[in-house]
Amino acid sequence: MGENGNIESILRVTGLTKRFGGLTAVDHVDMEVYPGEVVGLLGDNGAGKSTLIKMISGVYHPDEGQIFFEGKELKLGSPVNALELGIETLYQDLALAENLNVPANIFLGRETKKPFLGIIPVLDNDAMHEEAKKVLQRLEIEIPSLRSKIMTLSGGQRQAVAISRSIYWNAKLLIMDEPTAALGVAEQKKVLDLVRTLSSQNIPVIIISHQLYDIFAVCDRLVIMRRGQKVAERITKQTTPDEVVGLIIGSDLAERLE
Ligand SMILES: Nc1ncnc2c1ncn2[C@@H]1O[C@H](COP(=O)(O)OP(=O)(O)OP(=O)(O)O)[C@@H](O)[C@H]1O
Ligand SMILES: [Mg+2]
Repeated sequence: MGENGNIESILRVTGLTKRFGGLTAVDHVDMEVYPGEVVGLLGDNGAGKSTLIKMISGVYHPDEGQIFFEGKELKLGSPVNALELGIETLYQDLALAENLNVPANIFLGRETKKPFLGIIPVLDNDAMHEEAKKVLQRLEIEIPSLRSKIMTLSGGQRQAVAISRSIYWNAKLLIMDEPTAALGVAEQKKVLDLVRTLSSQNIPVIIISHQLYDIFAVCDRLVIMRRGQKVAERITKQTTPDEVVGLIIGSDLAERLE
């Protein structure tokens, strides 16, 4: 509990700023994420959404500002660092190994570390298969055969494997940059269901999407960016897609389009 009896945020960023040469891609942004919360990060192309989350996930070093994770200030320099803390980021290219099967992907590159669910001194295939099965069940993900190579899975199933991998490795915050952009309607729905499942297990999610329908279906709160700045924040239930579109494009442009 915080000073005011409020629940502590898992993530809090203050004054986060990133410049590329003369361009300020992210300009003094403040943002908080609470346990189990799904936060939508919205803004037009180039608004600074990806740059903001890349600072949180340690890909970029902020020029100014602070990041607090579970109450502690982070000096993030690399994504590995963020991963160790439990900040998992899924980009559109999911970085799965196409010609390996599902369990092999869940364990990819982290075979030597101690996993969260169960303890496996030696990673043989049977053990990886069992562990993969457990995490998929926990997330209510159905994949016909875990022995399938990733290249034979659909976009939504791949997304599910990537999410499972993050959860298996004890994600405390999941960040998704346009997770449903390339998916069919049914698969988009499954990914959104998965986001809800995570949230019900108290794992917060930051989701970037241009698809307002998805955002309204799944997010508790919306943060809207324009030209690097946070221009608004709304409780999803207290706003409308029309208002959000107006905030994304800005009143000057909205007026010119009237
Ligand atoms: N590595 C980089 N070097 C130089 N400029 C960059 C770099 N990355 C982003 N930018 C610029 O910073 C601004 C914000 O980009 P960013 O990718 O964060 O936008 P975005 O909100 O994610 O947009 P989109 O919805 O198109 O993905 C843009 O003007 C972009 O051109
Ligand atoms: Mg982006």
